[in-house]
Amino acid sequence: MLQPHLEALDACLEQQVEKFEPEIREHVSYSIDTGGKRIRPSLIFFSGWNSEGSVDKNLVQLAAVVETVHLATLVHDDIMDEADIRRNRATVAKKYNNATAVLLGDALFSHAVYLATQFPTNEVCREIAVSMRQVCTGEILQTMQRGDPDLDMETYFRVIDLKTAELFRVSCHLGAMLAGFDRSYIEAAAAFGRHLGIAYQIYDDMTDLFGSQEKIGKTLGTDIATGKPTMPIILMRDRLPESEAQELRETLAGKIEADVPRWLEKLKEMGIFEEVRQAIFEEIRKGREAIEHFEDNPSSLHLRTISQLLWNQVAAL
Ligand code: IPE
Ligand code: IPE
Ligand code: MG
Ligand code: MG
Repeated sequence: MLQPHLEALDACLEQQVEKFEPEIREHVSYSIDTGGKRIRPSLIFFSGWNSEGSVDKNLVQLAAVVETVHLATLVHDDIMDEADIRRNRATVAKKYNNATAVLLGDALFSHAVYLATQFPTNEVCREIAVSMRQVCTGEILQTMQRGDPDLDMETYFRVIDLKTAELFRVSCHLGAMLAGFDRSYIEAAAAFGRHLGIAYQIYDDMTDLFGSQEKIGKTLGTDIATGKPTMPIILMRDRLPESEAQELRETLAGKIEADVPRWLEKLKEMGIFEEVRQAIFEEIRKGREAIEHFEDNPSSLHLRTISQLLWNQVAAL
């Protein structure tokens, strides 16, 4: 059932290219025409799962909205993170230039809103608009905090909640809403999405340090080098003896060049890798708790399965 929905989504996204002005279709096509993991669309399809087995056009339309918002945020994010590779090819900023990427991201955001207006209810548009604002706020906060060597864990969580978990949350919320599920399930699915989003960003931050660029298909290792303190780094900084902590602070502040292999070695030595892994499991558990009383709704079982995929991925690290 998931596969036909994903195929319908691909077709829908392809059709969108024609709706842009001819002069920028090539650029839109370049950014849209790529294989992402389609996590948010999958959350939508699972949250709104119906047992009839037919492709639900509303869910496909919603998935196109959310995936377009997601694409726009990636186009912008790669400018800020100075990343060269995304989804195994040059980022939009690298292929064209930063100015084009800023405006193309804006055009994608606008188009997502346009697609969101095509639902009979304006709740979709309202929710999506608020989510877009929150994602941007998360990215703005992160940009302002870059190079702050003293960033604390609470602020880290706030940023990932805004920049990543919100889009996961809204996917589950609106998917369940469009399927006509009752308020209690909509709220439970939304809470699930939010915790899964937090877990996913912590996982992504860990792969930025320990992952392989070839396997992941995007530029890695930029977080520490560009002064973005993530969970492992914050934990390490707060536990290192003062002289080393000071060195790490100066690295984050950009005063000395990042000796990434050395810090990775330290992270492993100090057992922080394992601790972060447990933090991810904890968020996944919270997400599951939110939907645990809805086992009679098949949607909740599918959401649980998607959380298991992340769990397995983290366990295999
Ligand atoms: C990347 O998201 C941005 C983060 C929130 C970490 P995805 O990992 O879902 O990216 P794609 O869509 O599969 O490329
Ligand atoms: C997620 O943060 C970005 C957005 C929510 C747009 P990252 O900067 O860690 O994402 P990647 O690693 O570039 O995909
Ligand atoms: Mg990035
Ligand atoms: Mg990352």
